[in-house]
Amino acid sequence: MDRNDVVEVCGICLEVKEFHTTNTPEFWSKEALEKWSESSSDITLVCKENGKIIGLALVSVHVPTSKATFENLWVDENYRKQGVSKKLFNEVLRQLEEKGIKFIMSLTQEGNNLSQKAMDSFGFVRGKKFYWYEKYL
Ligand SMILES: CC(C)(COP(=O)(O)OP(=O)(O)OC[C@H]1O[C@@H](n2cnc3c(N)ncnc32)[C@H](O)[C@@H]1OP(=O)(O)O)[C@@H](O)C(=O)NCCC(=O)NCCS
Repeated sequence: MDRNDVVEVCGICLEVKEFHTTNTPEFWSKEALEKWSESSSDITLVCKENGKIIGLALVSVHVPTSKATFENLWVDENYRKQGVSKKLFNEVLRQLEEKGIKFIMSLTQEGNNLSQKAMDSFGFVRGKKFYWYEKYL
């Protein structure tokens, strides 16, 4: 992903209900995504078909602890079940290996069966359930 993709990514992701952590639809700000896309420690991938974004994977990497977090993974409904998210994940893995990162985690909503199946198929081990708490400072 580069700066030129940010507006399209924001437009897509605000509509993805699986990304909403409270009842208010929210997504990363344009400014945050621009900085993220330029960060050398993090991973931001988009998959395009005829110039249109049909998939994305956003991963944050906390360098001191070598912990990667799969923040967002999405594939356009018209392109699902064709291995797009698997390709994105394999590229994430490749880049994490290159950076020497050996741990990645992800949160998924209770009831999001597609995401859970995908995480299972990527070899993630399912841990305990947690509540999402948040506060703006
Ligand atoms: C989750 C999501 C990214 C999967 O994308 P996808 O490109 O369709 O997934 P893939 O085709 O690469 O399949 C990956 C694995 O997921 C599982 N899977 C995906 N869709 C499935 C379906 N409809 N039924 C059963 N299993 C499914 C399969 O196990 C598959 O692995 P396999 O091919 O080895 O069997 C997509 O459904 C999505 O964008 N959902 C909405 C956003 C979301 O919930 N994101 C995750 C939370 S951040």
